[in-house]
Amino acid sequence: MKTKKTVIAFGDMRLGKDSNRSKRTPTVRKDKNAIVPVDRFPISVGGRPRIETGASAVADLGVPIIARPSLAEREALDRIDLSVELAPARGAHERGLRLANPVMVASGTFGYGVEYGEVVDVQRIGAICCKGTTLRPRAGNPPPRVTETPGGMLNSIGLQNPGVDAVIEKYGSVWQGWKVPVIVNVAGESIEDYVEVARRLDGVPGVAGIELNISCPNVGKGGLQFAIDRDAARAVTAAVRRATELPLLVKLSPNVADVRPIAKAIEDAGADAICAINTLSGLAVSADRTRAFLGNTYGGLSGPAIKPVALRVVYEVAQVVSIPIVAIGGVTSLADVLDFLACGAVAVQVGTAIFADPELPVRLGDELRAECLARGLSSYAPLVGTALPKRAGASSAKGAEYRP
Ligand SMILES: Cc1cc2nc3c(=O)[nH]c(=O)nc-3n(C[C@H](O)[C@H](O)[C@H](O)COP(=O)(O)O)c2cc1C
Repeated sequence: MKTKKTVIAFGDMRLGKDSNRSKRTPTVRKDKNAIVPVDRFPISVGGRPRIETGASAVADLGVPIIARPSLAEREALDRIDLSVELAPARGAHERGLRLANPVMVASGTFGYGVEYGEVVDVQRIGAICCKGTTLRPRAGNPPPRVTETPGGMLNSIGLQNPGVDAVIEKYGSVWQGWKVPVIVNVAGESIEDYVEVARRLDGVPGVAGIELNISCPNVGKGGLQFAIDRDAARAVTAAVRRATELPLLVKLSPNVADVRPIAKAIEDAGADAICAINTLSGLAVSADRTRAFLGNTYGGLSGPAIKPVALRVVYEVAQVVSIPIVAIGGVTSLADVLDFLACGAVAVQVGTAIFADPELPVRLGDELRAECLARGLSSYAPLVGTALPKRAGASSAKGAEYRP
């Protein structure tokens, strides 16, 4: 993402009749690029392979430095257990959903995995959530569909996809041969849509699980999103649970006042795990300021700008559910991963940052491993939930941040 310069000119209208002020030199605001590709593991001084541990292992960005580890160091790293279980074994799905490491890629930012085969060792990613898949093919929204924003981007792709049957036919056999679990992100406009897609995916070799994207308008409820209504969220989760024994993850929207009852309803309805968060609803204005910029008017905001919101949602949800939480929102560094773990997530997904650095998810897995080694841990479990309060606190929806 490029650094942008924004000229803020003060016109007469805003400054009234004070002509001296209206002639002021315009202020130039520089929006710093928030998604910066990080160099690969820095090479050790003098060329000697090493892994730094302790305080010196953490570079300015909080990234542990691993430079061509020796065999002994490699073995020590390999002994660290990064595996995580997101769903228990159920029926024919006797393996449940166990990831070799907790760094996944987010739906819509990594295609179907095959597109990145040339650039990334996809088998080393914790899991791939593929592009949102619907019952019938969808052409998506009119352009423009994306625009950069300070610290992130807005997108209104509109769930462009070839439909579930084509996805199964085109990618199922490829995924079957992969070590990395592929989770199909499912979208729909009615409970029947979701159920039918889930049924078709059930038993397909290569499909390791389903992630329900419930941030779609529910035609039966006048266009209201499933994700913003507790009863609708419960109903769609329960219906899909009945339709399939596949590991079932449900993805929350941040566009609600209080996310906790919705998360609880999803857990009660039988979800194996909760993913949080999807994009925040946003808007950009055209350059001539005569209309909204995106063809679809509204778009979903993602990237580092939304990380504090995602942290807040994960923090709140972790206090009311006991199923695993997968954090999503603005992950660009190991520090972000550690923050989400501290707030109760057991895994993370990397989304927007992949556009700047497709290798980031794999590198974050390596960095988490090195971090555990540096801290003398055999797994990352002790890093989970360390920032959570002892007792569940008030929801942010109660205006806690404005309390005098
Ligand atoms: C271009 C783009 C397309 C996306 N498509 C989907 C999608 O099809 N289904 C879905 O559940 N989320 C989709 N998302 C949301 C991401 O999976 C993720 O929840 C969100 O971007 C926040 O993570 P991030 O800040 O790391 O990008 C999309 C995001 C982007 C940027």
